[in-house]
Amino acid sequence: MQNREIPLREKSVVFIGFMGVGKTTIGSLVAKKLYRDFVDVDVEIEKEYGMPVTEIFKQLGENEFRRREKELITKLCNQRLNIISVGGGAFLQKEIREICLEKCIVFFLDLSWESWKDRIDLIIDSRPVLQNRTIEEIEELFYQRQEIYALHHSRLATDELEIEEAAAYIVDSIKLAWDLYDPR
Ligand code: S3P
Repeated sequence: MQNREIPLREKSVVFIGFMGVGKTTIGSLVAKKLYRDFVDVDVEIEKEYGMPVTEIFKQLGENEFRRREKELITKLCNQRLNIISVGGGAFLQKEIREICLEKCIVFFLDLSWESWKDRIDLIIDSRPVLQNRTIEEIEELFYQRQEIYALHHSRLATDELEIEEAAAYIVDSIKLAWDLYDPR
């Protein structure tokens, strides 16, 4: 039987974590440093439907968004060499968790609640999941979500790091894993 496993050096890298932790900013910098393409799943879905995520939720419903999110992530995970930022709710779907963990290197960007809560005003307008919730409810969601993000290959606590430092650390750790587990 043909060996369908993707060699470690060619595996795509997936960034997970709560909304607004920096998956897109840090992920795109990592992509640049590794000379790879960067794909932001939310941006791809927005392009496809021709409207922002907030409108997709409003006009087509969250279920439609989640359906397309799963389809797209599955396609991307089956390709090689991508750097992918997935929405903070993507890992709620078991199939997404499984395919990401099986086919890719999954990096959890871990920002504390204390640091995260200062960002809320910057992101709330574009994040339907945060709207119409009290700060206490958002905090509860934040901690609930940490349980699904616990499923990852590698984690980086970003509270004390500049974007450039975080990206450099991630690139170093990916290269170390390549050298250790897929030496050439
Ligand atoms: C969501 C996170 C968003 C986006 C959508 C739903 C969530 O992505 O996919 O608004 O449920 O956490 P970011 O994590 O990139 O903000």
